[in-house]
Amino acid sequence: MKTLLITGGAGFIGSNFAHYWIQNHPEDRIINLDALTYAGNLENLAGIEESETYRFVHGDICDATLIEKLFTEEKIDHVVHFAAESHVDRSITGPEAFIKTNVHGTFNLLETARKTWANDANCRFLHVSTDEVYGSLGDNDPAFTETTPFAPNSPYSASKASSDHLVRAYFHTYNLPVLTTNCSNNYGPYQFPEKLIPLVFINALEGKPLPIYGDGQYIRDWLHVEDHCRGIDAVLQQGRLGETYNIGGCNEWANIDIVKLICKRLDELRPGNNPKAELITYVTDRPGHDRRYAINAGKIMTELGWSPQYTFETGIEHTLNWYLENQGWWERIRDGEYRKYIKQQYQDLK
Ligand code: NAD
Ligand code: DAU
Repeated sequence: MKTLLITGGAGFIGSNFAHYWIQNHPEDRIINLDALTYAGNLENLAGIEESETYRFVHGDICDATLIEKLFTEEKIDHVVHFAAESHVDRSITGPEAFIKTNVHGTFNLLETARKTWANDANCRFLHVSTDEVYGSLGDNDPAFTETTPFAPNSPYSASKASSDHLVRAYFHTYNLPVLTTNCSNNYGPYQFPEKLIPLVFINALEGKPLPIYGDGQYIRDWLHVEDHCRGIDAVLQQGRLGETYNIGGCNEWANIDIVKLICKRLDELRPGNNPKAELITYVTDRPGHDRRYAINAGKIMTELGWSPQYTFETGIEHTLNWYLENQGWWERIRDGEYRKYIKQQYQDLK
């Protein structure tokens, strides 16, 4: 039986992972530590909060006293570290929070694990990171591998790259049993509607403009969040210590094509007077916008036998249905801070 500390487990991927873990490993205990920033939502955890093996702790990964207390009292032996400031656009307007949480918060967790675990062979620290640390690809460049040099271009990716380096250093210097995953763009249930897919879906449903940055030909490699969770599970249980594993869908799409796909499907699911694609609006580009990401997931596939189970067609269908069936979830998010953010971020659309 393991005792997992999941950090950021009230966010998009962390909450999906908490559901996934309880379903697949019901014997383990889960301590979910989350600061409940704008992106954290306890509604994402509905259905598991009553579980006897689950405890939610409202707190900040930058709070060293709290982290030490949790490690000792709960006898944490596994950490799956999701907590982060995760949105690139917010890192451009307000980078400080990214440095605090993503760099200092990760340092705090590593330090506590180092002090508490004292070379216990059963312990594991899995750091969840991103493909954005590798920078941007040209159209004909090969996909990122685990040995692609880091070249972060936004305050977000620079903060994640810093945390990846710290994790690596704790392995080499202190022999801490760490693993790192670098994943491509996720989509699926509970994704906060500041990110492209839920933002466009909700705006299209409501007849609002669909903002496309620049020429819309920026490319991302999309993976369903459940496939990401399965990949993290494989790395946590079978990964080689000190190694990094890329996780991705071999599923590259230009932004404009994804938006058109969502519009087309919504025209079928919720027909209106006009095609939803008429709402597409080109807006000012994101500063420093990375042109293309693509993941070579060969290492996790061959070493650990992981592969995505969703195709993009089945994954998008599942996701759109989830957002249609859970309208109350996203309607509640749109109050307050979210409204202010959207007004500020999309000034072209006023
Ligand atoms: P998210 O923004 O949806 O959730 C982040 C969670 O962390 C929130 O619940 C928030 O309250 C919590 N949090 C933030 N600061 C905290 C702090 N100081 N202490 C405790 N909790 C704090 O993010 P996400 O999309 O679920 O991403 C999770 C992780 O996965 C991040 O580390 C991100 O870099 C990484 N990642 C995300 C993607 C993606 O496509 N979303 C892809 C690859 C990697
Ligand atoms: O690649 C992994 C990363 O994916 C994660 O590390 C990040 O946490 C996650 O937020 C995501 O980053 P992106 O910047 O790629 O995701 P986002 O949904 O913000 O944007 C996807 C693409 O769509 C990107 O090229 C920018 C573009 N975009 C985004 C928004 C919000 C638009 O054209 N219009 C928009 O309104």
